[in-house]
Amino acid sequence: MFIYPLFVCSGEGQRREVSSMPGVYQLSVDEAVKEAAAAKAEGINGVLLFGLPDEKDAIGSAAYDPEAPVQSAVRALKREVPGLLVVTDVCLCEYTSHGHCGIVVDDEIANDPSVEQLARAAASHAAAGADIVAPSDMMDGRVGRIRSTLDHNGFPHVAIMSYAAKYCSAFYGPFREAADSAPAFGDRRSHQMDPANVQEALREVALDLDEGADIVMVKPALTYLDVIWRVKAEFGVTTAAYHVSGEYAMLKAAARNGWIDEPRAMLETLTAIRRAGADIIITYYAREAARALE
Ligand code: PBG
Repeated sequence: MFIYPLFVCSGEGQRREVSSMPGVYQLSVDEAVKEAAAAKAEGINGVLLFGLPDEKDAIGSAAYDPEAPVQSAVRALKREVPGLLVVTDVCLCEYTSHGHCGIVVDDEIANDPSVEQLARAAASHAAAGADIVAPSDMMDGRVGRIRSTLDHNGFPHVAIMSYAAKYCSAFYGPFREAADSAPAFGDRRSHQMDPANVQEALREVALDLDEGADIVMVKPALTYLDVIWRVKAEFGVTTAAYHVSGEYAMLKAAARNGWIDEPRAMLETLTAIRRAGADIIITYYAREAARALE
């Protein structure tokens, strides 16, 4: 049930630790293959890929470059780690010079042109061989647009795992260092959800399912266990929960100070997410948890 996120950069032999996420690395494609193969040997069947492009621009065009790190990693993983489920994150924030998840016009995110870019990115991931695309941008209508683009380009079998209930959270901080995707100005409040609102989460899930999502995700996990529960109970569909970077970093930091028993705290945390109803848990702890559960 674990999916293991990987950050892929260009080059060879690159393995750069993310300072706020001990044990998490930016990996070149060859290293990502090694990491995924080792994870697979420990029982992890799926990875979620994020990309660090060499060049960024205002419209995030590296997101659909067939030679970019994610597309290259998908091809390499499908070739070299048989049976591994390869999921790709679809968003523009790692690819735009301003770090926003969409195209910016007059200091606002322009929804519809952003959706077009996201659909192009998803199609290029599918062309590289991705099994599942996972849009994390939170633009309106992107799931439907990605579904029709995939269908019209010969990828009807590629599934969509939508970040359906993605809250505007303080717990994404370390990820933005890992993925070099912090917004240069403003924040993500115009499209990510208000932490106080649960009805909107249910509406977002219903919309994404209507548009063709196969799996829906709640994110972050720990501060939204009730939302996971409500989504699973209400819709009965495959539900993923993302145990995000800040949640991982908190445990790591406390463990490094000797303030908690890390293996126990890790398993208690992941068990809680499971108990809340998650079928899939996306976590940087995937390998450690798989080893602990052996
Ligand atoms: C991209 C994206 C983010 C995460 C996953 N995809 C960051 C954000 O929305 O700023 C966060 C994952 C994590 O914190 O581990 N939009």
